[in-house]
Amino acid sequence: MTTEPIEVTVLGLGAMGRALAGSLLDAGHRETVWNRTASRGDDLAARGAVRAATPTAAIAASGLVIVCLLDHDAVREVLQPAAGAVRGRTLADLTNGTPAQARELAAWVEGHGAEFLDGGIMAVPSMLGRAGFVLYSGSRAAFERYGPALAALGEPRFTGDDPGAAALFDLALLAAMYGMYGGFLHAVALIRASGWPASDFAPMAASWLTAMTAGLPSMAAAVDSGTDGTPGSGIAMQATGFGNLLDAGDDAGIRSDLLAPMGALLQRAVEAGLGDHGIAALAGLLQTDGTKEAV
Ligand SMILES: NC(=O)c1ccc[n+]([C@@H]2O[C@H](COP(=O)([O-])OP(=O)(O)OC[C@H]3O[C@@H](n4cnc5c(N)ncnc54)[C@H](OP(=O)(O)O)[C@@H]3O)[C@@H](O)[C@H]2O)c1
Repeated sequence: MTTEPIEVTVLGLGAMGRALAGSLLDAGHRETVWNRTASRGDDLAARGAVRAATPTAAIAASGLVIVCLLDHDAVREVLQPAAGAVRGRTLADLTNGTPAQARELAAWVEGHGAEFLDGGIMAVPSMLGRAGFVLYSGSRAAFERYGPALAALGEPRFTGDDPGAAALFDLALLAAMYGMYGGFLHAVALIRASGWPASDFAPMAASWLTAMTAGLPSMAAAVDSGTDGTPGSGIAMQATGFGNLLDAGDDAGIRSDLLAPMGALLQRAVEAGLGDHGIAALAGLLQTDGTKEAV
């Protein structure tokens, strides 16, 4: 997307920060960078980025300040001493974190006279700007102003005025991803224990998982409405079949750690009298008495 060049700062030049900074340079923006380990900015400096000596100087240099550090503690550690430079800026924190952390940082940033966006990068560095998308929440005005420039990082998607919304959706998407990876890793361990290469199995797994993801909207509708959702695939039948899955793993010498919790949940549903319900009914069993994030 073509957009007017802007002044942008990137704080944090790890694998993702360098990819972000590189994409913004590619898009023609004037960039200032800072990283704790300065040498990680060498290639960006060679490509025209200005290297700031401190976070304060880096923040002062640009209207838009993108933060991409390891975690929330690192963000606090870097921003606290630079608080005086934040006024009048827009700070977009693309560091992975929780909704509560995003709301806390939003209050801190706004309390120092700046606008805040939280972001969730739904891409790995090599995908940046080509595939995947980036979730944002917080200041709608800031999103509208900087959305065209931020498009250099991937399709920008605004999830709401609540600063915690992007982190909520980010973590929910990662939860779905890790569930899939966990199942796939168990599957390939099982396949390899029987002498087949994982590579032979991967295309079959991809087509099966693609077919299964087609059912996610109807499962979600069943969760929302509290209805059954998947006639013909009751939980009691699935709990019985799941036992075979674990037994075959035991026979092949495969640890069942990744899948055992799902088997236990299916059993708990049967014991709760939900055996003839569809798998969507399991969602209700995951709620604890603790607080529930709301967008
Ligand atoms: N890589 C991915 O695939 C990916 C995908 C989506 C989202 N993310 C998120 O993007 C963020 C950055 O990930 P990454 O892949 O760039 O991680 P990384 O390569 O491990 O880089 C971590 C960055 O944080 C800095 N840092 C860590 N602790 C610090 C501290 N106490 N003070 C100052 N700087 C500190 C590091 O500085 P030094 O260089 O000095 O160590 C480095 O710039 C994470 O929140 C991650 O979850 C990553």
